Amino acid sequence: MKEDFYYQKARSMGYRSRASFKLLQINNKFSVFRKSQIIIDLGASPGGWSQVASHLVGGNGKVIAIDKAYITPFREKNIEILNKDILNRNLPTIILETYRKVDGLISDCSPNISGDFSRDHSIQISLARRALALTQYLLKDEGFFICKLFQGTELQEFIKEMKEHFKITKLYKPAASRKKSAEIYVVGLKYTASKGSSVEIEK
Ligand SMILES: C[S@@+](CC[C@H](N)C(=O)[O-])C[C@H]1O[C@@H](n2cnc3c(N)ncnc32)[C@H](O)[C@@H]1O
Repeated sequence: MKEDFYYQKARSMGYRSRASFKLLQINNKFSVFRKSQIIIDLGASPGGWSQVASHLVGGNGKVIAIDKAYITPFREKNIEILNKDILNRNLPTIILETYRKVDGLISDCSPNISGDFSRDHSIQISLARRALALTQYLLKDEGFFICKLFQGTELQEFIKEMKEHFKITKLYKPAASRKKSAEIYVVGLKYTASKGSSVEIEK
């Protein structure tokens, strides 16, 4: 593909991916990041979102960058890398052994695109469901969640599930997301564990 505007801009600004600008634009719209926050970034490789989050939370904040693929270590000192599959059932325990619950959970996870849209959409939604399930273990009350989705038949059902846990749920397609791409981002604000749904880790 021809190297586009955001690709060039990412290179010139030292970001690892053009996706960085999607997160910057989401934050410009919803102002979710604050100094000193702890953030979990799911599907973080190669690391553009983690870099953006790292700069926004600052030196007193922390970003936990998680991917099943290798992530090259960062120059940013407030990013910790965890080389794990998000489907690993022990992931919440592993994280909570070291960190407290986090202020924001962001997920740009996506499958390798097969070209069969309904299959790709289904896998994408299952990754998003896993990310949403992880909020119940790892996200503080009033925390935020940003998650990539592909627009398709299962999208509305997922939005309904989001609304059970977030006081505000918005869909947003940042300008840096290619128009012809089915991707869209869901933003959940003010997390509340819904009645009876609080999830504790078994020791
Ligand atoms: C679009 S890339 C993320 C780009 C990243 N946000 C950035 O700014 O550099 C999607 C990532 O999701 C990861 N991924 C997909 N399924 C995963 C899983 N089950 N566990 C962990 N990571 C996964 C892939 O390895 C890939 O690195």
